[in-house]
Formats: sequence, C-alpha cells, structure tokens
Amino acid sequence: MGTVGLGAWQLGADWGQVTEDEAFATLGAAVDAGVTFIDTADVYGDGRSEQIVGRFAKGRPELTVATKMGRRLEQIPANYVMPNFRAWNERSRQNLGVDTLDLVQLHCPPTPVYSTDAVFDALDTLVAEQKIAAYGVSVETCEEALTAIARPGVASVQIILNAFRLKPLERVLPAARAAGVGIIARVPLASGLLSGRYDEHTTFGADDHRTYNRQGEAFDVGETFSGVDFRTGLEAVRRLAPVVPEGLTMAQFALRWILDQPGVSVVIPGARNASQATANAAAASAAPLPPATLEAVEAVYDDLIRPQVHDRW
Ligand SMILES: NC(=O)c1ccc[n+]([C@@H]2O[C@H](COP(=O)([O-])OP(=O)(O)OC[C@H]3O[C@@H](n4cnc5c(N)ncnc54)[C@H](OP(=O)(O)O)[C@@H]3O)[C@@H](O)[C@H]2O)c1
Repeated sequence: MGTVGLGAWQLGADWGQVTEDEAFATLGAAVDAGVTFIDTADVYGDGRSEQIVGRFAKGRPELTVATKMGRRLEQIPANYVMPNFRAWNERSRQNLGVDTLDLVQLHCPPTPVYSTDAVFDALDTLVAEQKIAAYGVSVETCEEALTAIARPGVASVQIILNAFRLKPLERVLPAARAAGVGIIARVPLASGLLSGRYDEHTTFGADDHRTYNRQGEAFDVGETFSGVDFRTGLEAVRRLAPVVPEGLTMAQFALRWILDQPGVSVVIPGARNASQATANAAAASAAPLPPATLEAVEAVYDDLIRPQVHDRW
C-alpha cells in the first residue's frame, strides 16, 4: 500500500509566499507525522526548495529526497543531453548537500525524449558514477508513462492521479505494477480544490499559479487544478462532500482515495504550513474507503470531469 510523502513545490515559489520558517515547520511537521519521502525540483524557487529541503534533510538518513531536472533550459529534445544533465546534477547535489541524489526525475520533458536511447544511456551513466542512486520520470500523459515504464532503468513514474484524474487507473497503474515501477501520485488535491475550502469568491495571489496559469499561460494547464475548470471543480467537490467519511476532512478523503488505488507507491500532497502537513500524513492511518464511495467518485468524474480531462492527458 502507498504512503504519504510531501510535495515541496510550495516551499520554493509559485504558490504565493511561504517563509523559510514556515517551510522548516512544514517539513518538521511532515516528518514528525511519519513522512519519509520528499519531492522537490531544481526549478522550484530556482533552487530555493532544494536548498531548504537539503538543509532540513542533513543528518536524517531515513529521508528519501526525490528531485527533478530538465526545466532550467528551453524544453526541446536537443537540451536533454549529457553535458546539461551533468550541470543540472552538479547544481542539485550542491543545493541538496549530497554526493548522490536519491532519485532524479526528468521533469515533464517533451514527448520524443521518452523514446531517445541516448537520454537513458546518460542516466545509466550517472547511476554508474553514483551521481544518482536511481532515476525516474515525471510525465504529463498516460502514453508517456507507458513509454517510460517500458525502459528497464526507470525506477519511478510521477503522474497526476486524483479523484479528478482517473485515466492512469486503467493502464498506467497495472503496467507499473507488472514492471515493478514505483508510482508517485502528484497534484493529489487538484491544487487544493479537493480540500473543499474554496468557493466562487476565492482568489489567489498574483504570484500563485492558480491565478496566472489557469489557461496554461506558463506551463501545462493540467498542473493547475488538475486541468479542471475552477467552477466545474467546485461543483464536483460539492457533489463529493456527502460521501466523505465521518472523521476525515475532504483533503484526507481525497488522499485516502489515492492510497486505496493498487500500484500507488507514494502520494505527495503539497503543504504550505505545518498543520496541512500533519493532517495530510494522517490520511495514511485512515480506513480504506468502502466500494460505494469509490463508485461515487467515479460517477462524479463521469458526469462532470471526464469531458474536460480524459482524452487530454
Ligand atoms: N511537473 C511536475 O513534476 C509537478 C507538477 C506539479 C506538482 N508536482 C509535485 O507534486 C506536489 C503536489 O502537487 P501540488 O502541490 O501541485 O498540488 P496539491 O498537492 O494537489 O495541492 C496543494 C494545495 O492544497 C492545499 N492543501 C494541502 N494540504 C491541505 C490540507 N491538509 N487541508 C487543506 N488544504 C490543503 C494547499 O492550498 P492553499 O495553498 O490554498 O492552502 C496546497 O497549496 C508538488 O508540491 C510537487 O512536489 C510536480
């Protein structure tokens, strides 16, 4: 069964301001609640997230820190080559203060990169040189996930999987299980929509991607509210509210739903403060959801969400 980790994008940038004190408190609360897996990237706050996570993880060998590379230059296939990998790897190892990265993921590269042997040969070389212990990919689409899973050296696939993104359940999770590839479920709360805290009057800061990337202006629109139109998302959340089990918040319910999917290794909710991190970790000890609840999630998806996302990612 999967575990609850922590997504550290919020501790870098793009989600309004999170101070360094808040960032350390968030990491501390997550680890105190049993979290041992942290996901970051070299571009989150241009290295700020990696640096904070690195300082926090020093002297805590029980933690696995996954980072990502590949978005410091324009995302064209020509940039996914060994000299760039070496430069990005060097910088991430410096930011994180380690000789060997636990796990490095290609950060949503262009689709042809998944079919380029030289890319994976280069990653194998970095493993042989002990610059990275293992590598994986962070993907946008199910097809990209399947191409990556077919590569023998790929240890993990990070993919959007939540109550508003059911397509990976059909093919990606079974293929990953068969190949022994780990699944890292990201954007589990649909950027906070599935916390149930927002309404038609909710606004976000100018420096928050939930303001500036609603139409995919800065990066793939699927990363913001899971690609679901905000008002549709609110309607779906209202329909889900009655099936949230007593004792769980909507956010915990959304995380529990992911943990109940066979083949998920770790779910990485982004938390912006200590109380969110503590509450999210508690989803791991909640009871599995009953079948009727899983069916209710599917029904809401089919009615409202499927038309917007299913054929797209
Ligand atoms: N391309 C990629 O590889 C990629 C892309 C996206 C994300 N990721 C990774 O996945 C992680 C998770 O995804 P995400 O952060 O985009 O989205 P998410 O986890 O779906 O949503 C995060 C937001 O949910 C709200 N939230 C979190 N815990 C809560 C709680 N207990 N109660 C109420 N609200 C809560 C917070 O919203 P408020 O800010 O409103 O409080 C938080 O900012 C990231 O941190 C990052 O590590 C990777």
